[in-house]
Amino acid sequence: MSQQNAPILFTGPDDLRQYISREKRMGKRIGLVPTMGALHEGHLSLVRASCEACDITVVSIFVNPTQFAPNEDFAKYPRTLASDLELLHSCNGTIVVFAPSVETMYPSCFNTFVEVGGITERLEGEYRPTHFRGVATIVLKLFLLVQQDVAFFGQKDFQQCAVIKKMVSDLNVPTQITVCPIIREPDGLAMSSRNKYLSQEERKQAVVLSESLLLAQKMFSHGEKDTDTVCRKVREHILTARDAKIDYAAIVDPETFEDCTELASGVVILLAVRIGATRLIDNIILNYSHSLIFCHKKCP
Ligand code: PAJ
Repeated sequence: MSQQNAPILFTGPDDLRQYISREKRMGKRIGLVPTMGALHEGHLSLVRASCEACDITVVSIFVNPTQFAPNEDFAKYPRTLASDLELLHSCNGTIVVFAPSVETMYPSCFNTFVEVGGITERLEGEYRPTHFRGVATIVLKLFLLVQQDVAFFGQKDFQQCAVIKKMVSDLNVPTQITVCPIIREPDGLAMSSRNKYLSQEERKQAVVLSESLLLAQKMFSHGEKDTDTVCRKVREHILTARDAKIDYAAIVDPETFEDCTELASGVVILLAVRIGATRLIDNIILNYSHSLIFCHKKCP
């Protein structure tokens, strides 16, 4: 039986700020894990990493409207605060949850946004032109509120991590950023709150994303260097799923997000694929000896 204290819940920024400044004065190290809730083992892996590295872990739970386009799933995005709190209760550490309302974060007079240039223009940025502006804005607001020592993000959203690192570097934000590995279902599907949208049949098909990335990794391990050859195989494999439509399957430099002509260790393959109406993303950083991390626990 867990003897953990229940997470402390704040909905207002002033109460949170007061709590944090008191703890910081006592020399406590603060970690931040920004989330949109509907927590799964992927999120919890970030929370555990923070609990190990920090005295207090702030988990923000906020479905951020500014990162959704009008035609996207903001309204139907799962909101499961009660079960999120229960899951966090089972983590080993002092956890503070910040779950503000939309009106608190974006009062009607709100009119300031953070635009990161360059790397936001490709891939996710091409398909979701206002997405990273919303992400950068909410993440900077959270950083300013929490003033954490370290913030934890998942490699699952590879381009998001790059955008946040760029913002932190360009704006001299005093925080460390730690990127944690992708946690996967036992069959390889990257965990995501959006996996809940998949029908049983679509869920079976969704495994083509991780399979195609493993296929690419195998080709690379066997000496293949040509990106076109690998990209063609990746696409072919994804399209074996009846309901799959590829937004992009790109092999890029992890810093510039420019297309690569030759495979090398450290190059990243990024996928965005729609299975029916559900849009999934996944990626792999090519390595000479790669293995994926699977979730062997019973996941919610
Ligand atoms: P959300 O999709 O809830 O993800 C919160 C964090 O969990 C992100 O850093 C994401 O990369 C990480 N994550 C999600 N699935 C993961 C998995 N399978 N393995 C490892 N990490 C995983 O990303 C967002 O929310 C938002 O854009 C946010 C940063 C909170 C800003 O609103």
